[in-house]
Amino acid sequence: MPLDDLDLSRIPRHIACVMDGNGRWAQAQNLPRTEGHKAGEHSLFEVVDGCLDAGVEWLTVYAFSTENWRRPKDEVRFLINFNEEILFRRRDELHERGVQIRFIGRRDWRVPKRLLTRMDEARALTRRNRKLVFTIAFNYGGRAEIVDAVRSIAASGVAPTKITEKTIARHLYDPQMPDPDLVIRTSGEYRVSNFLLWQLAYSELLFTDTPWPAFGREELFEAIARYQERERRFGGVDGR
Ligand code: IPE
Ligand code: IPE
Ligand code: MG
Repeated sequence: MPLDDLDLSRIPRHIACVMDGNGRWAQAQNLPRTEGHKAGEHSLFEVVDGCLDAGVEWLTVYAFSTENWRRPKDEVRFLINFNEEILFRRRDELHERGVQIRFIGRRDWRVPKRLLTRMDEARALTRRNRKLVFTIAFNYGGRAEIVDAVRSIAASGVAPTKITEKTIARHLYDPQMPDPDLVIRTSGEYRVSNFLLWQLAYSELLFTDTPWPAFGREELFEAIARYQERERRFGGVDGR
C-alpha cells in the first residue's frame, strides 16, 4: 500500500508495535533464532522511516519484556548486546533524521550498566528532536509499570480520595506519552503480552500474520489503512 493512498488527515498520532515472530521466522529457514532478531533490525528502521514519512508523531516498540528473562541465557545475552549495539550504531542516523529516542521499562539490576549508559547517551543526544518520538520498551512490563506508578503515588503521600486516572497517568514511566491510537502485533498471536496495559484502553488493535522480519514500510502503511477504516467511539455513539 503506497503512502499516497492513505488519508493524510487521519494518520494515527501514536503507533505501538509488538515486534513478534523473529524466532519462528528464523527457524522456518533453518537458522538460529538470533538470526531472526538480526533481521528484525531492518524492519524496525523501515517502520521508523515510514512513520517519519507518514507524519506519525510517536512510535513505541516492544524490544524486551519483563518476562523475556525466562528465555535461554544465550538468547537473553544476545538480545541485550544486540540492543546495545544498535543504539550505538544507529543513534547518529536517528539523530540526523530528527528522531527523539526515549525508553520505558524498569532500570533494575538485571539491565547491565553498559546498556543503561547507551540508553542515557541516546536520549541525551536526541532530546531536542521533534519529528518523531521513538520509544523503546526495554525490560518493560505493563503490570510492573502500574506497580511502579502505585509505589510512587503512595510515596508521594497523596490522599487516597485525591487519586484519579490523571494521577496514575502522571506516574507512568513517560507521563508525556499519549495513549497509542494503533497497536500492531506481528506474527499471528492474538494477545497483548503485558504491553502498555494502562495506555491501550481505547487503542485500535491490529494483528497480522506477517512475522516481524518480513514487516516493513508497505505493511505499516497497510496497517494504517486498516486503522482508517475503523470507527473509534470511546464508549460514545457517534464516532467522535
Ligand atoms: C520477538 O520475536 C522479539 C522478542 C521477543 C525480543 P520472538 O523472539 O518472540 O520470536 P518468536 O515469537 O519466538 O517467533
Ligand atoms: C512480546 O513477545 C515481547 C516482545 C515483543 C518484546 P513474546 O514473544 O515475548 O510474547 P509471548 O511470550 O508470545 O506472549
Ligand atoms: Mg514471540
